[in-house]
Amino acid sequence: MDMGPFRKDFPTIRRNLGIYLDSACQSLRPDQVIRAMDEYYEEYPACGGRSVHSMATKVSVAIDDTREALADFFNTKDPECYIFTKNTTEGLNTAAFGLGLKKGDVVVTTDAEHNSNHVPWLFLKENVGIERRFSKSDRTGEFDIESFKSCMDRKVKVVSVQHSNNVTGCSVPVKAVTEIAHDYGATVIIDGAQAAPHMPVDLKKIDADIYCCSIHKMLGPSGMGVMYGKRETLERMRPLTVGGGTVGLATYDSVNLAPIPDKFEAGLHNYAGIVGTKAALDYLKKVGMANIEAWDTELMKRAVGNLQDIKNLHLVGPEQPGKRCGVLSFNIDGLVSHDIAMMLDSMANVMIRSGMHCAHPFYVSRAVDGSARASTYLYNSPEEIDIFTDTVRKIAETFGE
Ligand code: ALA
Repeated sequence: MDMGPFRKDFPTIRRNLGIYLDSACQSLRPDQVIRAMDEYYEEYPACGGRSVHSMATKVSVAIDDTREALADFFNTKDPECYIFTKNTTEGLNTAAFGLGLKKGDVVVTTDAEHNSNHVPWLFLKENVGIERRFSKSDRTGEFDIESFKSCMDRKVKVVSVQHSNNVTGCSVPVKAVTEIAHDYGATVIIDGAQAAPHMPVDLKKIDADIYCCSIHKMLGPSGMGVMYGKRETLERMRPLTVGGGTVGLATYDSVNLAPIPDKFEAGLHNYAGIVGTKAALDYLKKVGMANIEAWDTELMKRAVGNLQDIKNLHLVGPEQPGKRCGVLSFNIDGLVSHDIAMMLDSMANVMIRSGMHCAHPFYVSRAVDGSARASTYLYNSPEEIDIFTDTVRKIAETFGE
């Protein structure tokens, strides 16, 4: 499918404001999302789920519509199982701290997790005494199911893994992992931040207990995320934040928590963001997630092909473009990744990310000091990839060792 026609929907592309290759951080937004949010601010800028006047009722209906759109997008039945968060990080923290883990409980992750699926467990190790086990990936970051199986026994209470990695693009076979984890009675949490924007995600099939993603990586508003949970899992979890909106009834010395989803959504919410979320999901559905996955692979194929003969350039992660989930991390001998990013910007107005991408343990364990990372999405064109790779070549030849 040719994605060219969609480019006109993105204001920064129409205005020629540069080549955006930082979508793994945050995506661009189409007019449809911006308009939906403007409409909220201009026509019904009220709260949801509280006041009963007409503007507020419109917001409450819009919230329900967005939850229904989420259930449809991720192929599950129950809209109440989608909790609005700020981002994947908040969802993962809510899950980690909400499951009531005790001293000696074992949590299994991979050894290549984003800090958001690592640091909360470190805190629980220090404060509660949980134990950690790491499923080892290979040098390029690929998941090893045998290593994962060797971590499992009845002491494992939680398996919390990334769906796709934000540095290498490597994916974990989450359905198989969930099946194995469930055989041992463990709760399964999945960090879907990098995968959900780039491939079809069927939560019914995967069968994980919790799945978190960031809507701002999926054409949606900044500071919007979603935590999906199976009803029975959410019902036994404690919320991370409590207060207004989260209670059935509170007296001076007692409180009944509200049912899901309310018990997890304390205080007033980002209603413009919730409205924009539905517009983003509608847009992604119209394009088709399988088409997006195929397009990212095309662009990766082109980028990897264009760069492969540059002797002093080294990819981080697997060579195969189909395994990169829209991320291309690389280093050039003799250059710091931030310098590569700044040169790409100043020489050709190409925007990428550099550094450790919040995946410190992965880099430290491989003795690599970060990387430059270009990440694509449905609105990038093959011509943009060529400008990016031509400029990388110039940088490598002129400034690299
Ligand atoms: N985790 C996000 C990224 O990879 C912020 O850029």
